[in-house]
Amino acid sequence: MSSEVIRHIGVFTSGGDSPGMNAAIRAVVRAAALQGIQVSGIIGGYDGLLTGRVRTLGPRDVSNIVQRGGTILRSARSEEFRTIEGRVKAAAAIRELGMDALVAIGGDGTFTGANLLFKEHGVRTIGLPGTIDNDLAGTDYSIGYDTAINTAVEAIDRIRDTASSHDRLFFVEVMGRDTGFIALACAVAAGAEFVLVPERPEHIDELVEALSKGSGTKSSSIVVVAEGEEEGGAYDVSRKVKERIPNADIRVSVIGHIQRGGSPSVQDRLLASRLGVAAVDALIAGEHDKMIGVVNGQITLTPFTQSIGKVKSLNTDLFRVLAILAT
Ligand code: F6P
Repeated sequence: MSSEVIRHIGVFTSGGDSPGMNAAIRAVVRAAALQGIQVSGIIGGYDGLLTGRVRTLGPRDVSNIVQRGGTILRSARSEEFRTIEGRVKAAAAIRELGMDALVAIGGDGTFTGANLLFKEHGVRTIGLPGTIDNDLAGTDYSIGYDTAINTAVEAIDRIRDTASSHDRLFFVEVMGRDTGFIALACAVAAGAEFVLVPERPEHIDELVEALSKGSGTKSSSIVVVAEGEEEGGAYDVSRKVKERIPNADIRVSVIGHIQRGGSPSVQDRLLASRLGVAAVDALIAGEHDKMIGVVNGQITLTPFTQSIGKVKSLNTDLFRVLAILAT
């Protein structure tokens, strides 16, 4: 790192992409340019530093991307960067390129890497939460989550149409890695009968009991299953339920990566734009090694060590709401 003054920053996206990452890149580039700060876009996350894939980004280079899903800077999970030698190489590249600081858009793994770069080489980074999983402590929402749940709910609504026509029981698996933020929100918003999430292990008994309450009066039932829940995913759960309710006409739908793509929602564009501008402000103010988020509507900085280590809790009230509304 050359000095405390920020003249040149590198921006990159890393880990699983999420809708709104482009809006965040655009915000960082334009906010920095307005302050006379040079911006380099690092292509392919940490890997781009190791392989020298870097391009200068000016305000016009980020035109017409606010509405686009994916990331113009590409994204990757770098194995080499996970090693001490890889990080020595990355820090040397940052020095050679003359970057004073980084803006990292990603999740847990991205911030773990940024924290190590600071500890080992003094590289200053501000992180933006970019993941559909919404599992980062220190922000109420991460960039991409709102779009992902809207996409998943739209898919579940379509499944409801066909499920009702055929009196079927559907198990719909959504993403979220080892958390249930996507599943719980989708279950409530799509009027599902039940939800299975890793944070709240439910037994098949409870699921069967809940389903039997609606049997005979409902034309369809939908169970939203978080991919990381402990019964083994939607297919395994469906097999276990079939053993208990042999007459049920069951189908399984795994929504998958559709949740990661598409034009970002207004909420995600707003969040990404605010956080991108705030990240540049934070670097100019001398902040580093922190994630920038929004808590109760306010921009908040959380040290990487806290956002990485802390488990973010689900809003448990939503389980009660779901149970009441599924009657
Ligand atoms: O972290 C985002 C996410 O989409 C998770 O919900 C999912 O478990 C994972 O990434 C999928 O990763 P990949 O795209 O590498 O298959």
